[in-house]
Amino acid sequence: MDVTLPRISGSPEVGILPELANAHPDFWNDARAKYGDMFQFRLGATEVIALCQPRHAQHVLVDNAANYRSKGGNQGFRAAIRELTNEGLSTANSESETWQRQRKTVLPHFGNTNIRPLGDLLIEVVAGHLHDWESAAHSGDPIDIGPTLSRIAIDASVRSMFGVDISNEEADELAANSEIVMDHIWLSILGSVFPQWLQLLDKNRQQKAINAVVAIATRLMERHVAGGGSDTNLLGILLDQRDDDSVEYMTEAHLNEEVVSLLLGGYEIMSITSRCALDLLLHNPTALARARAEVDQVLGERTPTYEDIDQLKYCRMVIQETLRIYSPSYQLQRMAEEDDEIDGVPIPAGTIVTILAHAIHHHPEHWSQPECFEPERFAAAGGRHRFAWLPFSGGRRACLATRYSLMQGQLILAQALQTFDITPVSTEPLSMYMGTVSRPKNGLRVRLAQRQREEA
Ligand code: HEM
Repeated sequence: MDVTLPRISGSPEVGILPELANAHPDFWNDARAKYGDMFQFRLGATEVIALCQPRHAQHVLVDNAANYRSKGGNQGFRAAIRELTNEGLSTANSESETWQRQRKTVLPHFGNTNIRPLGDLLIEVVAGHLHDWESAAHSGDPIDIGPTLSRIAIDASVRSMFGVDISNEEADELAANSEIVMDHIWLSILGSVFPQWLQLLDKNRQQKAINAVVAIATRLMERHVAGGGSDTNLLGILLDQRDDDSVEYMTEAHLNEEVVSLLLGGYEIMSITSRCALDLLLHNPTALARARAEVDQVLGERTPTYEDIDQLKYCRMVIQETLRIYSPSYQLQRMAEEDDEIDGVPIPAGTIVTILAHAIHHHPEHWSQPECFEPERFAAAGGRHRFAWLPFSGGRRACLATRYSLMQGQLILAQALQTFDITPVSTEPLSMYMGTVSRPKNGLRVRLAQRQREEA
């Protein structure tokens, strides 16, 4: 069938790369509104078909997933990230035997038996870092709370993965260098086809940043081993697998790639999510009041326990709604291995398709008033397509850490609201941009006050 899809016209040399650089993720909502649910564009030399309906996502991620095992061959994101985490779980190019084995190994870490200790760990990590806000609460001076949220995500990642502590200097170094690495991945996607962008690439700087991240990961691994190791954290589980003769040997290089990939992938997205959630909540007085009422009712003044997490339902809805509005993984890329058809449109073998999660999350057929922040949308399960909300992707390659991530977000909100009155300094809306993931440009400056409670 000869079907011509609408196309975003771009430059003959580089397609729509210049438009995408530094763009807000709403770029994709505007494109969907203008061109429809399936359209085409060129990203440098690569032709891409954009998919904006939940049924498209279901087709690619579940119904015909066997045809879309590759995350984009050696083009785009995959090529750019390869130098860092070639064989890491999240970047492995296809559902190879190695990927299957690794996924089976890592999955239980975030599963039912381990989720309680992870929850207890999160409560402790969040409480520890909220102490950092006490002096600002005392002085009344405005502070940017972004760095604390990032530090919480780093500590939670490091402690759950390695079972050891990370020093302040190491955490700062990790945060600064991962940002360089993530920005560079995006720049090198642009630079691979758009020579002007190459001038912005500083290979030396990137290599140094990668070396620094790997060095920190190596130090943490050594610290884990020196401390006697433990098979209750993720590194212990990976090391056990490597040492188990009954399975194919995991090389040192592969182990390092896995560790770096899990470390970077997990913490960066988590820190963006809690940052956006607090921003949205603080700028929505009705939702803020409801969240506070829930926290007061469930927790009062006592330290949360694992059992409380399930009761913090509204806080979970706030995180879910945040991930709808600002899904850090705003697109999910796959390559068709064989000829296929989606909604009657032929997809020839080798075609790159991108599921535009951001456009699906704002699609007016699936969400009423999609631009409004309304956590209550998530109160009732069902009633919408299962792929209308896919911040954690879906199918065989869905995020392993969905429950853990929601829990982390819930606890940060709950413990922060329990302890402080938080007032945003600026009324400016969040300003997002698309890179390897979508993330805020601005910090989150607030005034804090220790909460005064009335006597019961
Ligand atoms: C709010 C937080 C998070 C979000 C929104 C998120 C989102 C995602 C998405 C969208 C994917 C699939 C990408 C694709 O299909 O192409 C994914 C995969 C993955 N995520 Fe997460 N993630 C989060 C937190 C974490 C954390 C904390 C970890 C823990 C280390 C983690 C580990 C992974 C791994 C290992 C994969 C690869 C799974 C595979 O390919 O088999 N994620 N995540």
